[in-house]
Amino acid sequence: MLVVLNNKCNLDYEEFINYNQELNSISTNIKLVLCPSMLYVSLFKSDKIILGSQKVDIFDMGAYTGCVNAKQLKSLGVKYSLVGHSEVRKYKNITRDEINKKIKKLLEEGITPIYCIGETQEERNNNTYKELLKEDILESLKDLTNEEKKKVIVAYEPVWSIGTGNIPKCYEINEVVGIIKEELPNNRILYGGSVNEENINFFNTNCNLDGYLLGGVSLKINKLQKLLNILEK
Ligand code: 13P
Repeated sequence: MLVVLNNKCNLDYEEFINYNQELNSISTNIKLVLCPSMLYVSLFKSDKIILGSQKVDIFDMGAYTGCVNAKQLKSLGVKYSLVGHSEVRKYKNITRDEINKKIKKLLEEGITPIYCIGETQEERNNNTYKELLKEDILESLKDLTNEEKKKVIVAYEPVWSIGTGNIPKCYEINEVVGIIKEELPNNRILYGGSVNEENINFFNTNCNLDGYLLGGVSLKINKLQKLLNILEK
């Protein structure tokens, strides 16, 4: 079981220092990864929580203003990185080809990519989501060897569920897990989208998942502790 905390673009400096302290007081045996705001990657201190990144760019060292590369992340102890999150796809317009390049750069540095996919409400309504998810997987992971592919963690995050409080039915999650497994039978699969301490039991008892990618609840330590307690039962 893997639980990944995505702080997104939240917390100012002081808030982050307090958050870091509180997070270290969490008691759990579940493997936790924190993806803080990029500004705080080098500030985060913990001997039990693993460091993750919310972003990586496709470039190596050089004249690429504003970019962050996989070598730099590795040098700070980053072990996991999100790639292709729907908010990045939406606000930065990244292409599948760029996602593919980012995944390769991460793998070259020994960082585990957490590759995010998920359909919009419109794609679900018009029933194009299955084909689109499949295409996304094929293009985003193209030219990877089987060994490399296996290292990628897939996070299924339906866009319509992120931050909305709307969660999929169990059969909807299992259907998408099945689509992912057709292409990537041996990969770990996480779910993300409005997961909280109140609904975690539903996901955990009904769905075939290897872990969770948490947004909003990652910022609320009491709720996060409750969620982890339920997962550990
Ligand atoms: P929420 O848990 O806030 O819906 O966010 C999910 C997410 O986007 C995690 O990457």
